[in-house]
Amino acid sequence: MKCRVCRGPAVIDLKRHNANFCGEHFLRFCNSQVEKAIGEYDMFTKEDKLLVAVSGGKDSLAVWAILIELGYQADGLYIGLGIGDYSDISGQYAKDFAEARDLNLHVVDLVEEYGYDVPNGSKAAKRVPCSACGMSKRHIFDRVALEHGYDVLVTGHNLDDEAAVLFGNVLHWQTDYLARQHPVLPERDGMPRKVKPLVRLDEREMAAYCVVSGIDYMLDECPMSAGNSHLRYKDALNLVEQNSPGTKQAFFHKFLSQGAPFFADAGEEARAELGTCATCGGPTPNDVCAFCRLVERAGGQPVKLTRAPARS
Ligand code: AMP
Ligand code: FES
Ligand code: ZN
Ligand code: ZN
Repeated sequence: MKCRVCRGPAVIDLKRHNANFCGEHFLRFCNSQVEKAIGEYDMFTKEDKLLVAVSGGKDSLAVWAILIELGYQADGLYIGLGIGDYSDISGQYAKDFAEARDLNLHVVDLVEEYGYDVPNGSKAAKRVPCSACGMSKRHIFDRVALEHGYDVLVTGHNLDDEAAVLFGNVLHWQTDYLARQHPVLPERDGMPRKVKPLVRLDEREMAAYCVVSGIDYMLDECPMSAGNSHLRYKDALNLVEQNSPGTKQAFFHKFLSQGAPFFADAGEEARAELGTCATCGGPTPNDVCAFCRLVERAGGQPVKLTRAPARS
């Protein structure tokens, strides 16, 4: 197996690209895929202040490393979700990564700042853990970005994540979700733009990126997500991909170029309906946002959103 670029010994084969790469050229390939996604979807520029949401897992640490390597201004944000050892260990990976590279990492602890953790919050709100967790993370992403004046919030969602979400949305014909499924969610009312620069790279490629570039990351999956439908959709798509490499990429990227425009109206309606939460000031279609209701039910304390002074 030889590298497509230098003909040296290859360390990885990428069937969907019909290519093999040595370590060095594989890292360059990943960088170029991220650059391509940033350009293709007009995500951000070198002038923007980026906040990368890092979980301590491979995807988010890799995207942070790649953005720094490409010369972007990117700080990190880790949220302690209070999921026992899983949270403690993954937080340590995020902190070690930042410290070793002298990068700025914001840390927010749900229990310390809001008075609840994901297991208790999900019970109190009668929501599945991933729903309570996702809602908490999204709120804190907005809060930290707003407080510190970041223009863009970056997450480590990769091609497998996005294809699995798309698959689920199609299976249930959730047109409003289909309308919002894009690698860029525009900013609104001071909330940062949300972007997913890894949409051209899959899970295996991100794990290989970390191994080749020497990034230590949390290997375990979240214990609370076991058995959720998202993982089953990933398995189903992997089965198809095994027999027809490239299917996942075509499914997701052709949806964006050819399918998504059909759902644009459903998205406009959902966006137009948003007002302001009376408790925290965040966007919501109700008087009080779902996050503040969750905090209240979990017996915690909501935190009012504050904005950083405008930059001159
Ligand atoms: P998940 O929802 O766990 O699949 O994670 C999707 C993305 O959300 C990750 O790639 C990260 O960018 C971000 N994320 C997940 N967990 C955390 C966390 N504890 N703190 C900050 N960001 C996170
Ligand atoms: Fe959110 Fe597991 S990381 S429920
Ligand atoms: Zn090579
Ligand atoms: Zn609120």
